[in-house]
This record gives sequence, structure tokens and C-alpha cells, in this order.
Amino acid sequence: MDSNGDGIGDIQGIISKLDYLQQLGVDVVWLSPVYASPNDDNGYDISDYQAIMDEFGTLDDWKMLLSGLKSRGMKLIMDLVVNHTSDEHHWFVESRKSADNQYRDYYIWRSGIDGQEPNNWISLFSGSAWKLDEATGQYYLHLFSQKQPDLNWDNELVRANIYKMMMWWLDLGIDGFRMDVINLISKDQALPSSPSSDRYAWGGQYFMNGPRVHEFLQEMNREVLSKYDCMTVGETPGADIEEACRYAACDGSELNMIFQFEHMGLDSWGDKWDVKPWNLHDLKAVMTKWQKGLEGRAWNSLYLNNHDQPRMVSRFGNDGEYRMQSAKMLATFLHGQQGTPYIYQGEEIGMTNVRFADLNDYKDIETHNMYRIRVLERGYRHEDVMESIYLKGRDNARTPMQWDDSPHGGFTSGTPWLGVNPNFKDINAEAALRDTDSIFHHYKQLITLRKKHEVMVYGRYDMIADGHDQIYAYTRTLGDEKWIVVCNFFGGEPEFRWNDYGIDKVHLILSNYKSLDNGIGVEGCDESVSSIRLRPYEANIYQVVG
Ligand code: NOJ
Repeated sequence: MDSNGDGIGDIQGIISKLDYLQQLGVDVVWLSPVYASPNDDNGYDISDYQAIMDEFGTLDDWKMLLSGLKSRGMKLIMDLVVNHTSDEHHWFVESRKSADNQYRDYYIWRSGIDGQEPNNWISLFSGSAWKLDEATGQYYLHLFSQKQPDLNWDNELVRANIYKMMMWWLDLGIDGFRMDVINLISKDQALPSSPSSDRYAWGGQYFMNGPRVHEFLQEMNREVLSKYDCMTVGETPGADIEEACRYAACDGSELNMIFQFEHMGLDSWGDKWDVKPWNLHDLKAVMTKWQKGLEGRAWNSLYLNNHDQPRMVSRFGNDGEYRMQSAKMLATFLHGQQGTPYIYQGEEIGMTNVRFADLNDYKDIETHNMYRIRVLERGYRHEDVMESIYLKGRDNARTPMQWDDSPHGGFTSGTPWLGVNPNFKDINAEAALRDTDSIFHHYKQLITLRKKHEVMVYGRYDMIADGHDQIYAYTRTLGDEKWIVVCNFFGGEPEFRWNDYGIDKVHLILSNYKSLDNGIGVEGCDESVSSIRLRPYEANIYQVVG
């Protein structure tokens, strides 16, 4: 929400919407980076960790935000981006000056080999992960953009300074951190090339869950986290179950939970832009693997979209005829699982992907870099690449929040920094608040259920109906309490036979359909049933009573 008409959301704007968040039932707000930044990557390139970006406001505004949250019983976690800084951070400004600068070793510098980069690693934002710096004739490593040089975590001064900065924020009263690509911080010091004949190749095996990452996180925990009552969630692309059980172990020695990415990869066959349709059986397998794999050992985080991913209703639901039903179904599906659910802004009103006709209407560096390489260097067709941007581009999630049906969705009185999705007239928060049957109100109910019933939070997860092509169903069990979540993932009307799972009496707790005319009874009443026919994208939560 933009408070001053410059077209950019800001802290005062957020403050003006705190009642909305409270009404939804939000416990904790994760703020994406609001630090000083030249904005090469929407604030994930930080030039000063202890200053607020001018466009967003001042530290006093931020303090007002914190106290506004606290007075409403909500908490605040900040984005901790310490795999890299901006090239405009004073550490890097110093570091690049000379090979013997005292900050030289804060970053990863190497000489070229035979006139080429030190190794063949590809950047996550396309092209080489190395940039030659003229001042010293050496290359620096940047796993992301050229303006995001990677910090050298093997240097203990770097770590000490990061810990100091974290304590500064915690002492100001924040409640924890979301840690950006935290499993990339430890690189194999030999920096070996990836075995590939391609000019640039994926080198993740040398820096994903790298050699010292657990040592660093345990140190961070000892030096910082354990001294505060705070929560942490690590972003960990490429972490498997075993790694997750170390990062998010129940003994609290590293982090509280992680964002795993396996389900985010189900609709691509190469990198994320090589899109294929996802498949329900794969989704079942991946989600169940994480539910069962972490059971009793670590804690899951639950998400289907965020600022880096397309909108979930467009990706896993139906953003046309069944937008309402499918957005509620996906919300039910996710909130019914074990772990901590994360809601990304606008998800709670069913915001959808966007299709800008002109590439220049997109602002995301990842999108532009990919377009340049695919279309201009490799000869892909413009139309095909635009199609993949429509499906996967990060700006799908970054279009301004749709507050009402006034110009620019009520986000700004000026010109928005990124176009507003033209569907704001129909999809907006004001309309959602008015309609008691809206997606927003369904989220509210789900959140309330989780706060009231421990089985929703802690209950053991078990999948049922494994082989079903259209229905994803699972149970949650805590002591004598057993709940069932049944979700129809498609637009058909499949049958679900209770008797197949030894269940013959249920009590409907929550449905995404109002009129219950398909033989599943009335919310709140016990029913003896043998089978039900689900309507398109129908999702129900039941308590088993017999
Ligand atoms: C992950 C963040 O979520 C993404 O937005 C960012 O571009 C990269 N890390 C680099 O910081």
C-alpha cells in the first residue's frame, strides 16, 4: 500500500492496513527486505543493513510499524539477506578497491583461468556467476545478479558482523528472521567447475547445503538466536529431507523451519522456465514425503506461493470459472497439513497471475536476464518465452495489492511502480471483506480452526485414497481425535467412498461450498455416509465420529 502517491508501497501504507491483517487472523508478518538498496533485485541487494530504503520511509516509520503490530498482538520477522550484499554496500565498495584492502576477503575473489572465469558456474539469474572487476583484474562470485556479490562466510569477521547486525534488529524488538537462500552460504573452497561441456553450468553441488553450512548456523544459533525469544525460517532451495532435519531439527540447534522447494519444481522439466503440466500424483508424493519425513524430527512450513512464485490459484487451481472454489480448496488443502502455513499477500483474496503484453512492463531482473539469453542469444521464439513468463515470472506475484475497485486498485494515487492486474475491479480486498462467502472469510475460518483445534496443528498426517486421480485426501490424528481433509483438485465431480477407508460416520467441520446438496449433510451435523460426490474443486474438513 502506497501512502504518499509515489507509486511505491511503503511502511506507512502497511501501517494503514494492520487492522486488515489482524482481522484475517495473522500472527506474524514477514516483511520482505525494506533496507537501503539500489533495487537491482527488489531489495534483495542490500547496501546498508541498518537503514530503511528511502522510498519505504524511515526507521521511525518502521518503529511505528513494529509497535502497531505489537499492540494488535502480532509479531514481525525481517528478511535476513546475508548470502550476498549489494555491490554498493560499503564492504564491497572497499573490497573491490585493491587486493590488500581490509575488506577484500569479505567476498569471494579469484583470478581468471586462461582468460576465462575462475569456474563454469552459472548464475541463478542466467549467465556466468563471475564478474571481472577492472580495478584489480580479478573476478568476484555472484550467484545472483552482478550487483549481488556473495559474502565469504569462511571469513569469521564477516560472520561476526552479521551476528552483530542481527542482534541490533532483535534488540529493537523484532521476533525473528526469514533467511534468504541460507543454505547457499558455504561454498566448497576449491570452487571446482561443474562437470559439463556447457559454457556455464549448474554448480549447486558445490554450494547448496555446502561443507560448513551447519557449523555456521549452529554458531549463529549459539551467538545470536538462542539469546532471544524468536522464530526463524530458512529459505533452502535443494534441501532434501535429511538436510531439512538438520536445519529445522526439533532440538532447536539451527533454525525453526525451512522453505523446501520440491513441490515448486513439479511443473518444470529443465529450469523453471521449461514448463510442463504438474500432476496430482506427483503432488501427493512430494507433500506426503515432507509430511512423513519430518514427522517428529523437524517442523514443516506450508506454502504454495510467495514473491518468487506464480500465484497459486493460477498454477494449481483454476483462475477462471472456479477461481473462488479452487482458491478456497487450495487454502483448505494447505492449512489442513502439519506445519506453519504462510499466506502471501493477495492470496487471501485469490489474486491471479497477470499477462502484460509488453516485456518492458515487467520489472523483474530474473525475467529480463532469462529473456535476453533465451531470445537474443539462443534464438527462442519471443511468443514462447512470453508464455513461460506468463506462467512462471516472479512479477505475477508482485503486482500491487488490490485493495478496492478505484483506479490502480486503490494501491496508489500515483502511477504504480508495476502495473496493477486489470482484474482488480472484481478481485479486491474491499469486495472480499463485504462478502461473507469470500475467499478471505474462508481463510479466516481456517486460521480460527487451527487456533482452536490442536489436531489441525500437531495431528499426525496420513494420506488416504493414494491412487485417486482427482481427489487428494488425508487424515490428521491426535490422540482419539481424527479429522479428514478431502480435496477435489479438478473441475469434475468424482466420487469419494468413505467405506473404502473404514469410515462410516463423520461430522462436517468446514466446506468451501455453501449449499450442501450432494449428500454430505449439513455443517455441524453427524452423518452416516457411504460415499459422496464432490463438486468442482470442493474441499471439506470432517471429524470422524464413528
Ligand atoms: C531468494 C529471494 O526470495 C529472491 O526474491 C531473491 O531474488 C534471491 N533470493 C536473491 O536474494
